[in-house]
Amino acid sequence: MCGIFGYVTNKDEALGPILIEAAKRLTYRGYDSVGAATINNGKIDLRKDVGKVDVVAAKYNIAEMRGQRGITQLRWATFGEPSQVNSQPHLDSDGDMVGAHNGNVVNNVELREQFMAEGMTVRSQNDGETCVHAVERYINRGYQFIDAIRLAYGDLQGDYAFVIGRADDDKLYAFKKGSGMVVGLGEGFTCVSSDLPSILPLTRSVIRPQDGEIVTLWADKVEVRSVKDGKLIDRQPELVTETMDAVQKGGYPHFMLKEIHEQGQVARELLHLLDGSPDVAPLVEKMKNARHLYLIGCGTSYHAASVGAVYFAQLAGRAAIPVLAPQFIAQYAPAVNHDDVGIFVSQSGETKDVLNALEAAEKRGMACFGLANVVGSTLTRATSFCLPLCCGYEISVPATKTFTNQVVTFLYLAYRLAGMGPSTSLDDHSLRSGRHVLDSIPDLMEQTLSMVGPQIETIARDINEWNDMYCLGYGATYAIALEGALKLKEITYAHCEGMLSTEFKHGPLSAVSKGFPIVFAAGPNDVPLIISGINEVKVRGARTIVIAEEDARLRANGDDLVVLPKSDPQVNALLAVLPLQLLSYHMSVMRGFDPDFPRNLSKTLTVD
Ligand code: G6P
Repeated sequence: MCGIFGYVTNKDEALGPILIEAAKRLTYRGYDSVGAATINNGKIDLRKDVGKVDVVAAKYNIAEMRGQRGITQLRWATFGEPSQVNSQPHLDSDGDMVGAHNGNVVNNVELREQFMAEGMTVRSQNDGETCVHAVERYINRGYQFIDAIRLAYGDLQGDYAFVIGRADDDKLYAFKKGSGMVVGLGEGFTCVSSDLPSILPLTRSVIRPQDGEIVTLWADKVEVRSVKDGKLIDRQPELVTETMDAVQKGGYPHFMLKEIHEQGQVARELLHLLDGSPDVAPLVEKMKNARHLYLIGCGTSYHAASVGAVYFAQLAGRAAIPVLAPQFIAQYAPAVNHDDVGIFVSQSGETKDVLNALEAAEKRGMACFGLANVVGSTLTRATSFCLPLCCGYEISVPATKTFTNQVVTFLYLAYRLAGMGPSTSLDDHSLRSGRHVLDSIPDLMEQTLSMVGPQIETIARDINEWNDMYCLGYGATYAIALEGALKLKEITYAHCEGMLSTEFKHGPLSAVSKGFPIVFAAGPNDVPLIISGINEVKVRGARTIVIAEEDARLRANGDDLVVLPKSDPQVNALLAVLPLQLLSYHMSVMRGFDPDFPRNLSKTLTVD
């Protein structure tokens, strides 16, 4: 996830060291490129490149940069590969303004085309540059700077925070839409950033601007104005008391819990991005016309692919084959050809097993596309195009938000396969339900987390003595059960097997003894089937924990009913993974383990 930091002082300061230190404090958000710009007595100095903060700072001698205003940015690529030209900050056409953003401007492609047609110099593919030109457009039309910024805000769609300065102006300006942004007030300086950690060592006095507000930063004061009417808004500073560690973890004790709670927001951002993506329509066309469609991944990504295959069949009548990457090589690669399509799914984009499968598929001429979180990773460079998962940096080794955004992407693609357009509105009766279902996801995820939290903690305490358990599902919740079991194995070190609920009677039933924990994820259409499964194990002494929508039959048959909010069957499956993530998290912590960094595991597996 990109990070921005802007600084305004009334002295002619060595800003370089201040910007480098602020950039270092943003690194935990994840990044691939670094840049710094200063405005020194009317002259803009801009230095940036791909690489680590120390390396880029040393190469471009950022420490020597001086001035009265400075901006630094760490980039996590979404639009445009990691490269020097795509690094931020960016200049306007004439080099009079400099700005940087974090987040995603989802109408980036169409705005860039408009700017080029209007005669502006567009140098990169990056949407941070688009933000700068969005302001430039209105300066060119004769507007005052603040009004140009207000109008630009209206043109820039998506979730982002943006800071901009002008060579002949003694202030910086910032605004946000969807993403976070914090303003700091210190002795003789003010600053603005994507989040608190880069500000905290400088000052604990902060203002948190809201969407639809523009902040003007002088060295000794800030002003907050409404975008709508330009009127001043009274916003008093607050004092932050949390430690740096707590702030980096968003106030949560672990990154995993923070990332679990980010899932609603990253889903929201992903849906905006997919609506604006020019890559979706060609991909859907290819999928429609494919002889066979393969969804290929490992671990958690394979589970998302498996949920996706159920969505494609249920919503679009399109068969797809989810397959573990190494098995694809043995089982399908010899039989594929250029009429087949493969979607390679990977959080890191670096998993060797996935890259091996990609190589085998490409040798046979299969059309290969990607779905990855790390843009610029090997997978994103090796496939014709790769949809970004838009989750920002996932620090915790167990994947959570990247899994749910993979599943949301598959659900989105399923609806597009079924005929929904990117701008299908709620007035379009035939496709209205798809749009409505997708739009409801982020809120439902947030609602689920607040509904199930305390109950899951109690269940975790109750079953924590067990080192063997099962997690069962059917249909779309089958792969959710596999994913829940994987999370439990990864961070509690207990054995938990995920299985199709109907398979349990074909063997594992013999393992059941008194109190043996078995978790069922039950979709709303599968209740009778799940009830037979529950009773099969309950009469043999198992403790049954059921994750489902409120249902009197399940309440009467299961021991614990973890209630999900009412939703469509496909979304129900997505929501069901949230209590499973929380269950594994709490059991891991109760066992004294660190869920963020489980033993023996690595976030990126680059070996065979
Ligand atoms: C490793 C990780 C798993 C992950 C799998 C696939 O095994 O421990 O959590 O699901 O790799 O990773 P990918 O980056 O390709 O999604």
